[in-house]
Amino acid sequence: GSYQAQVFADGGSPFPFTPKGLEEAARRDLPRRYFDYIAGGAGRERTVAANEAAFGRWGMTYRVLRDGAAADASTTVLGTPMSMPVMLAPAGVAELAHPEAEVAAARAAERAGAVQVLSAVTSASLEEVARAAPQGRRWFQFAWPDDEKLARSLIERAEAAGYGALVVMGDCHVAGWRTRELSSGFFPFQHAHGLGNYISDRRFWELAGFGSAPEDRDRLTPEMIEAAASTWNRVFTRPALLPADVALLRSWTRLPIVVKGVCRPDEAARLCAAGVDALIVSNHGGRQLDGGVAALDCLPPVATAVAGRVPVLFDSGVRTGTDVLIALALGADAVMIGRPWLYGLAVGGQAGVEHVLRSLREEFTGALALTGHRSCASLSAADIVAVAPPT
Ligand code: FNR
Repeated sequence: GSYQAQVFADGGSPFPFTPKGLEEAARRDLPRRYFDYIAGGAGRERTVAANEAAFGRWGMTYRVLRDGAAADASTTVLGTPMSMPVMLAPAGVAELAHPEAEVAAARAAERAGAVQVLSAVTSASLEEVARAAPQGRRWFQFAWPDDEKLARSLIERAEAAGYGALVVMGDCHVAGWRTRELSSGFFPFQHAHGLGNYISDRRFWELAGFGSAPEDRDRLTPEMIEAAASTWNRVFTRPALLPADVALLRSWTRLPIVVKGVCRPDEAARLCAAGVDALIVSNHGGRQLDGGVAALDCLPPVATAVAGRVPVLFDSGVRTGTDVLIALALGADAVMIGRPWLYGLAVGGQAGVEHVLRSLREEFTGALALTGHRSCASLSAADIVAVAPPT
């Protein structure tokens, strides 16, 4: 049944329905430094603001006298079927939002039929997440470690655990200038948050100088935690990741290779030529480069440069079902959400993430019907017009 019908039957919902309301609820529920880590961006946070504001420069047109019951939000990307073109973006250290972290998110995504892109930096390991939601579909975000054996170990584990694609983080070759983190003095990795995939890896402990992985992860000594944090800082990601590395990665895995963080059409064309299987237009939710162009403004030129050769995904600033429609009309095959699912997690664990996903799906399906579509496939630039920004 519809989510609206259920909410009215229940006499309401404990969770907010507006993006601002959800953010405010998360702000209330979380320790300040954790909320700031999640909500914050680089510098003055102009890119964060621009990402959301960019959607306000597009208006949808609707079509009348249609059959609304026929609208179906489901789609398939890289062979992965999904109930709607909305995925959970990889977000590290979700344990700051809720102790059940990505396991709760995995269960919510499984129930909503949404794809979870698991971050490399999680509290639960990629195997634990897969076991928690065995019917769920998920991809793995690969932070290419500065050690080949560790890199290949993570990839083999993701393949063995049934992940359907590797998402290479292309935009973190340096740390963003994150002013809220600098102000609070809180950087989660200093405290060994989010190291589940690493402390379950034998190669990681070899690098940390311990020879073998500990039997019992819940009983790490302070010495081991310190060694893990410093090892992680050392090997987390190769400082240089170049288009030619796509071929190297291809020689290591049969999984589709997706590059995340593409904003320029020239680079999109080069990556297509280098053989990537999909691109994600994203500016990391404005967390890397302050004053960067709004991600949505990068989407049409990238989609044009890609010219249908590979799927184009999009994230950074998506907050509502109508945002999803605008992104698809501008050339995205699907979108991802970052902060919204973390806020849902913060306010309600699994139920909160389910609320966010069901709301997006229902609002998007309604928008599809109102703009005169039965499926995502027929959306195009003809469904939207450029409008003056709201004041
Ligand atoms: C992220 N993001 C991210 N991306 C990634 O590839 N690996 C990661 O580990 C993380 N970690 C992370 C943590 C937190 C707290 C946030 C908010 C984001 C970026 C994420 O995948 C996505 O690009 C943005 O979040 C999208 O923007 P919105 O939806 O948050 O505006």
